[in-house]
Amino acid sequence: MRIFCRSASFLGVAALTAALLCASPSRADAAAHPSAAAIAQAGNGHGAAPCMACHGSRGGGQVSSGFPRLAGLNQAYLLKQLNDYASGARDNTIMTPVARTLTATEREALAKYYSVMPVPAAVIKAGANPSGADAPGGQLALRGRWSKQVPACVQCHGPHGMGVGQHFPPLAGQSAAYIASQLQAWQNGTRHNDPLQLMQHVASALDSADIKQVSAWFATQPVGAIKGTP
Ligand code: HEC
Ligand code: HEC
Repeated sequence: MRIFCRSASFLGVAALTAALLCASPSRADAAAHPSAAAIAQAGNGHGAAPCMACHGSRGGGQVSSGFPRLAGLNQAYLLKQLNDYASGARDNTIMTPVARTLTATEREALAKYYSVMPVPAAVIKAGANPSGADAPGGQLALRGRWSKQVPACVQCHGPHGMGVGQHFPPLAGQSAAYIASQLQAWQNGTRHNDPLQLMQHVASALDSADIKQVSAWFATQPVGAIKGTP
């Protein structure tokens, strides 16, 4: 096809026809393999809704609806979550159908796309006045509860819950509604994708007041100056 395209354009007379013929396959190709940016903005054309409709135009999520931030999260973590929704290890009525209509290549491209997206200003601003150790939820976050064998959340999730590498996602920069929804998802078993059941153990030791307080506490913490904090 490429050889035909090149020689046809030499003929001059056939140039327009060739242009039409040669343009259409690449357009069809783009539709069959949309880029991550195109999927985020307009969906993938075979079932996945535009990510930004829920996760925000800058990947900051939506505080009121509890839709999580994706911008600046670790690439391998994002990919694992998309694969977990697709496989059923993490089950959610909204995200599972979205992930199942993405191809493996699309999931990889989207994980990369969101991992390099800068954290939006609104998310950084939410961490401008962090709650301290004495605020409700602070003790659990910073010291844990050893009577129930719960380590401090920051031991795994890093200082301020900024996240550590690919296994321990940030809690800072997520809304209280989202953090609480995940702790409840572990309690009721719809999320069971954590390595060594670390979070299942933590969540099962918390009551609803703990969940409310610790979620609100982390929602005030700074995301950190360094993007992609290790
Ligand atoms: C209709 C709304 C909606 C759309 C569209 C949507 N999401 Fe989501 N997404 C959610 C909700 C709600 C959750 C949290 C679900 C849960 O509780 O597990 C979520 C969770 C996620 C997570 C897990 C984040 C974390 O911190 O663990 C990833 C990754 C994700 N979405 C990626 C995407 C991508 C990529 C797209 C576009 C192809 C997309 N989403 C489209 C609503 C949506
Ligand atoms: C022993 C280590 C460990 C401790 C302690 C821990 N976590 Fe986690 N947490 C994890 C791991 C691992 C994951 C990621 C699971 C996965 O791969 O999906 C996680 C994920 C989460 C998530 C989901 C984040 C997202 O983007 O979806 C929330 C919310 C969370 N933890 C809250 C807490 C809170 C609150 C505490 C303290 C009460 C806590 N964690 C203590 C290991 C830990």
